[in-house]
Amino acid sequence: MKSLSIASGKGGVGKTSFVISLALALQELSQKVLIFDADLGLANVDIMLGLSPKFDIRYVLNAQLQLKDIILDTEYGFSIIPAGSGVSELTQLNTAQKLILKSQMEEAFKPFDFLLFDISAGINDNVLFFSNLAEERIVLVTPEPTSMADAYAYLKVAYRRCRIKEFHLIVNMVRDDAEGKKIYQQLLYVSEKFLPELKISLLGILPYDECVKKAIRSQIPFVKYCPDAKISTRIKEIAFKMLNRKKMQHNKYLTEFLERFSQL
Ligand SMILES: Nc1ncnc2c1ncn2[C@@H]1O[C@H](COP(=O)(O)OP(=O)(O)O)[C@@H](O)[C@H]1O
Ligand SMILES: [Mg+2]
Repeated sequence: MKSLSIASGKGGVGKTSFVISLALALQELSQKVLIFDADLGLANVDIMLGLSPKFDIRYVLNAQLQLKDIILDTEYGFSIIPAGSGVSELTQLNTAQKLILKSQMEEAFKPFDFLLFDISAGINDNVLFFSNLAEERIVLVTPEPTSMADAYAYLKVAYRRCRIKEFHLIVNMVRDDAEGKKIYQQLLYVSEKFLPELKISLLGILPYDECVKKAIRSQIPFVKYCPDAKISTRIKEIAFKMLNRKKMQHNKYLTEFLERFSQL
């Protein structure tokens, strides 16, 4: 199993739409995928898919159900762990709640090839907790200066507090590839200057496309809604890259995952 977290610092930059379409693209490569909606208290994944889950993470944190029991299969073939909506006590997990999750994760995640954590906005404790659980981290940024500032803040906090050094960057909502590369260079320039130990690779550039908004309104992943759009081709390329990385790193992963578990 390979786990990825998708964070951004700033909200509204396209994380959830990206995660859902990446899940479908990976599923189309015959991978069993689980999305963990880690935006606790502000569930968006189920809404974007037009689902009304009966159970969500609250049942696990209240010890009513096991994590594996709330996994919901979708019509697209991938599965989700719903976050639960409108519950402010979830926005900051306490130590006991983290222990519940940690003790049940291994069993719940076992059947899957890919685990995608859709991380909430901000740089709070939950954001770091879930980023730390993942094997690899994706940071999503748009050309807006506020998005770049918040992505940088996330990188800084993840490095300073959790010693996370490697990140993959996705630049979303660009006019063209040149703009995407420029944003990557700018972020790289700042991080090399102030956080020289960080390694940031460019994983993908996604164009601005109205079809993403239409897909959300129709509650369908955009790779399905507009399969021939450039943004959908790009998602499929990213899925392919991640699958190859998974194959390369298969053995290294299990030991590292268990090590990280014991450190949290
Ligand atoms: N590539 C894109 N082109 C156009 N609009 C986009 C793109 N990516 C995301 N959006 C829009 O941005 C908004 C926020 O997306 P969402 O996935 O909910 O972001 P987040 O999870 O980061 O809060 C949505 O209205 C979505 O349609
Ligand atoms: Mg979201």
